[in-house]
Amino acid sequence: MLPTIAWQDNAVVMVDQRKLPGREVYVTCTTAKDVARAITTMVIRGAPAIGVAAAMGIALGMQRSKSTGTRQFAVEFNQTCDLLAGTRPTAVNLFWAIDRMKRTFGAGAQGGESVTELKARLVREAIGIHDEDVASCQAMGRHGATVVPDGARILTHCNAGALATAGYGTALGVIRAAAEQGKVAAVFADETRPFLQGGRLTAWELVRDGIPTTVITDSMAGPLMRQGGLDFVVVGADRIAANGDVANKIGTYTVAMMARAHGVPFYVAAPLSTIDLATADGIGIPIEQRNAREITHFGPTQLTPDGASVWNPAFDVTPHDLVAGIITERGIARAPYATSLPALFAQP
Ligand code: MRU
Repeated sequence: MLPTIAWQDNAVVMVDQRKLPGREVYVTCTTAKDVARAITTMVIRGAPAIGVAAAMGIALGMQRSKSTGTRQFAVEFNQTCDLLAGTRPTAVNLFWAIDRMKRTFGAGAQGGESVTELKARLVREAIGIHDEDVASCQAMGRHGATVVPDGARILTHCNAGALATAGYGTALGVIRAAAEQGKVAAVFADETRPFLQGGRLTAWELVRDGIPTTVITDSMAGPLMRQGGLDFVVVGADRIAANGDVANKIGTYTVAMMARAHGVPFYVAAPLSTIDLATADGIGIPIEQRNAREITHFGPTQLTPDGASVWNPAFDVTPHDLVAGIITERGIARAPYATSLPALFAQP
């Protein structure tokens, strides 16, 4: 399993995803600020992974706290939660993880725990969120593999792999599980402009696993489907609204439209922590705008002329009617999502 993020010797260690696949470099965060910076600068990215990072960042910040009284400790805890909440707006896993840390803090504080006990409780919860995410991905893989046809030629967009989670992956978890059952003939990874999560990270993971991998530029997915070259599409998600609308990496909507036009089933794999029942539909999902430089430059090289403006939304929203099914750790939700998604949460 790829070491995406780990709690190690009272620090948070993560692989620097900006440097992959060229170099495998690890970043050690010793403060909550370090973790917040790692999230905003994309050292770590992918919805479930940034949720885990936020939880570990909070635990780390509080572990280092000098507060001796619980009142001052609580003030510092809330400030640390706010710091992490300000990092990236779209992936709801971030806010889900922060809420969980707040609930566990509240339970400890109400029970009269000391600062030392609260610190230990926060570290346990953050590690628990990490470990649960790996188990969720493996369960998603088991459910998802059932809908992958034999000999499937699969397309995925962005990176929804071990690197985007605590391990194994959501969309790549489904692909991994199907590959373990001998069902996968080929995987096509969209390059995923402008940050190249597909070309750099998805391809790196799949090649390491010995799964036959072909990288295409984003604009090639449509023609590939038109030639009959794809049987199945699976992507991850950053936030799924109550009606089943899916926010995911920019370009996902185009893939879903192409899949609909060519009769290729389009699936989304995501844990319950990505489903936001409090947001009614995709219009309510905040979409992060990222730095123009991601588009105007490739490393130090300028690609576009001075004076051209840039639109760089990091995510788009795929309407629920284009989604064949949402693969979760509790099974596959189908339309109408307004009833099937809440039903997943109601399961014991
Ligand atoms: O900007 P990123 O790289 O954080 O965007 C990641 C994605 O859009 C992924 O597809 C999504 O988070 C699902 S990850 C299991």
